[in-house]
Amino acid sequence: MSTSIIGAPITRIDGSLKVTGAALYAVDHPMDDIAFGVPVASTVGNARIVNIETSIAQRMPGVLAILHHGNTEQLFRPAEQLEPSSRAGEVRPPFEDDKVYYYGQYVALVVANTFEQAQDAASHVKVDYEAHPNVVEIAAAQAPEGPPRIHYSRGSAGEAFESAPVKIDETYEIPTETHNPMEMHATIAKWDGDKVTLYESTQGVVNHQHVMSEMLGIPLDQVQVIATFIGSGFGGKLFPWPHSLLAAMGAKRVKRPVKVQVPRSLMFTTVGHRPLTQQRMRMGATRDGKLVSIQHDVLQPTSLVDTYVEQCTGVTTMLYSCDNVAAKQTLVPMNIGTPTPMRGPGIVPGLFPLESAMDELAIKLNLDPLELRLKNYAEQDESYNPARPFSSKRLRECYQTGAERFGWSKRTAQVGSMKRGDEVLGWGMGTATWHAGRGTATVRVRLNADGTARASCATQDIGTGTYTIFAQVVSEKTGIPIDKIEVVLGDTSLPDGPTSGGSTVTATVLPAVTQATQGAIDRVIAAAQTLPSSPFKRVSAGGDPPTLKMTAGRIHAADQPPESGMPFQEVLAQKRLAALEAESRTAPDPAEAHKFSAHSFGAQFLEVAWDPGIARLRVTRGVTVIDAGKIINHRTGRNQILGAVVMGIGMGLFEETIYDPRNAKPLNNNFADYLVGTNADIPELDCIFVEYPDLHVNEYGARGIGEIGLAGVAPALTMAVYHATGVRVRKLPVRIEELMAGQRTMTA
Ligand code: MOS
Repeated sequence: MSTSIIGAPITRIDGSLKVTGAALYAVDHPMDDIAFGVPVASTVGNARIVNIETSIAQRMPGVLAILHHGNTEQLFRPAEQLEPSSRAGEVRPPFEDDKVYYYGQYVALVVANTFEQAQDAASHVKVDYEAHPNVVEIAAAQAPEGPPRIHYSRGSAGEAFESAPVKIDETYEIPTETHNPMEMHATIAKWDGDKVTLYESTQGVVNHQHVMSEMLGIPLDQVQVIATFIGSGFGGKLFPWPHSLLAAMGAKRVKRPVKVQVPRSLMFTTVGHRPLTQQRMRMGATRDGKLVSIQHDVLQPTSLVDTYVEQCTGVTTMLYSCDNVAAKQTLVPMNIGTPTPMRGPGIVPGLFPLESAMDELAIKLNLDPLELRLKNYAEQDESYNPARPFSSKRLRECYQTGAERFGWSKRTAQVGSMKRGDEVLGWGMGTATWHAGRGTATVRVRLNADGTARASCATQDIGTGTYTIFAQVVSEKTGIPIDKIEVVLGDTSLPDGPTSGGSTVTATVLPAVTQATQGAIDRVIAAAQTLPSSPFKRVSAGGDPPTLKMTAGRIHAADQPPESGMPFQEVLAQKRLAALEAESRTAPDPAEAHKFSAHSFGAQFLEVAWDPGIARLRVTRGVTVIDAGKIINHRTGRNQILGAVVMGIGMGLFEETIYDPRNAKPLNNNFADYLVGTNADIPELDCIFVEYPDLHVNEYGARGIGEIGLAGVAPALTMAVYHATGVRVRKLPVRIEELMAGQRTMTA
């Protein structure tokens, strides 16, 4: 048997369902007698609701109910403050009181027979507000609330900075960014007596079930959450948002299934975003480029209804070797919806100032930026005291492989020195990293008498390829062809599985799929040994049954070739069994987890071309090298990395949510005005994996890859822009007008 299916670039097993439209996303589930809920959202950012006038809307055709804080029962807050088992995107339930804390907050829900009727009636609900001033800009915000949320210190960073011969002290800003997965958030809620079923677009069916149980105030076993297909989430669907509760409340009120889809415009307010961060980075170094001090101070807005901390400083404490490091992060509450993780939370926004400052320092030191990184390479994770070894770190090889592939040695450091026709080329590079997490999962594997297999787990595939890797492992262990393996995910009636977050699902589920598959094989082997006319008795000389194994779908004596045995389905048939199955629950070993620091690493190289004559900036080349342990599927793995690089180009060049200070409205709450990278913006991208299985994480040595591809892109991009234009962009996104202004300065 070949084990080559692990790592093989096989196509998604759910691919044909998706391209033929047979895959059911949340709103697609057919339902008799469905009604439609359309939310009424606040048009002010800070107010008290004085009155909600529904009399006109109530009489409109097809309207079944209008729910708001004045006519609904109070929901509950989740217990997440007490235990981490359930986490909501926003702890305040909808309609809790008459307060409005942000623009786009739900103030009512209209339920009607058709979507159009509900939408029309919603536009006729009149809400009177006693409005107060909004705060949506960090400069206008009150003093930060309380002491810093994050405080880290080793050595004496302040003193070391003062006495350092070479210094950088710059402030960088990343704007609010909004996740825009293709599939918008949506819920269909259906009550059967006291039990509610939620068809939801979520990255975590199990977490969603727990939160809904707590917030609706009903037992866990009366909530079922189903998410068979998800049009991605990027973090925005990690935790439940209020629309899901609206659907449940509406369905209960009208005693029919109710569908609520969050419109694109409200995805900019009520389902999270990456918060703006202002980050001051101070670095001190010796004249030959050894870091002696790093200080990283972050200011970040959060909402007035919940607290979300974007953990920006963690990466600063571990990426480079430096004796004196200090970091702190302070929050400022503002009239915005609650922020939430967005692909690469904390690390992606933290790396922008860290890697940018490294480039600025390299220029001051007259060093190649890659050389500066190698001079300060961390052999251990110094954020721990004492420092911890890495479970596996091949960052040096990433730098080297990437530099060779990109042709980095041909770079001339002088700004504007690399020309191609009318264009000026700029080259930049950035380091990528992401922590390698692993959690708990329970998986059930069933071997069927018809020769097929089935693996099931209450995790979900958010578009990353999770269905496929389940099938790969079952196929590798049993030899059953991949097209005979059914994978069932996205339903809380299955054994508990992990949330699709933090790039942890693959590392988390692999051990459970492996063990459950082995468990099912062991049961078939036990059955084979007890067959009345077991062929395996014949090969046993001493009378003991021989050791059996399963290869290529056949049960055979371990010391004999597979052809000597019999297909597993024949064993089941002879025992008159429909199937044999096993369930396994696996969790990381906490002792192992404390011995090592487990991270993935990478190096990213980008080329931009700046045409000053027509003020056009394009990304023209990109090379990404990733060290994420063993890659289970090279096709979906590469897809993850390239998708993240595309998102990084969007982060560098386009993405920014802009709030109107008058009413706290996100002004560009649509796809015409909120820009993301499109095909025309993306060049040929290269992705290379350096593969060293990290056996401290799991038996395949696979770490996660969902987020790391984004990590170094924005700093590599602004570095390349500087190299081409001489304009240092410290506030994302890069704007053409700044480059034009810089060009004038240069030629003046
Ligand atoms: Mo990711 S931001 O954990 O979906």
